[in-house]
Amino acid sequence: MGTEKDTQINSSSNFSDIAPIVVRRCTIEDLEGVIKVNELELPEDYPYFFYKSILDNYPESFLVACNSNKEIIGYIMWRVERTPTITSLKLKNNGHLVSIAVLKNYKRLGIATTLLSHSMKKIKKYKIDEYVLEVRISNFEATNLYKRFNFITHSIKEKYYRDGENAYYMTFKA
Ligand SMILES: CC(C)(COP(=O)(O)OP(=O)(O)OC[C@H]1O[C@@H](n2cnc3c(N)ncnc32)[C@H](O)[C@@H]1OP(=O)(O)O)[C@@H](O)C(=O)NCCC(=O)NCCS
Repeated sequence: MGTEKDTQINSSSNFSDIAPIVVRRCTIEDLEGVIKVNELELPEDYPYFFYKSILDNYPESFLVACNSNKEIIGYIMWRVERTPTITSLKLKNNGHLVSIAVLKNYKRLGIATTLLSHSMKKIKKYKIDEYVLEVRISNFEATNLYKRFNFITHSIKEKYYRDGENAYYMTFKA
């Protein structure tokens, strides 16, 4: 794990009319704040050890956005999965977007865009062939965001979520 200085990415100019927002690598101390954002913004929640294992295994692409009070207001985390290709027995590496969220009061400021663009570069270092993700078909905001990053809908995963909602399975060649 690097120092605060070398893990800090930048404060984007998109945020110039609000107090500086910093996007940087997540640390173990941030996990509580990440879990709070997840609980407020998404119906899916995960146990602490799940976040911890993503942080342990893929620290470079686990990023947080912080406000001027150093509170966590957004995060993104990825993992790498090896899956068989459809056309051959070869395995390929997928960079799987596990979760992204931004707190309500900070939405539509470009924070998710910054989190995604920085973390996609980082997860690519794990030699992935493709970026993949699932998103609720009702989640217009997130689907729009992913389309802006050139993700395309590969298929629909029926009843993917615990409440029975379908997911778009979206992919983008790395
Ligand atoms: C989806 C989410 C992460 C977007 O975060 P954000 O910081 O507000 O996103 P950005 O400001 O970077 O927006 C980027 C693009 O996403 C799309 N988008 C974001 N919010 C949108 C909205 N309310 N309506 C339509 N499009 C929207 C737009 O294309 C937007 O670009 P634009 O502002 O130039 O039109 C945020 O709404 C969120 O946390 N939602 C709840 C958690 C969630 O659904 N996570 C995804 C699970 S798969």
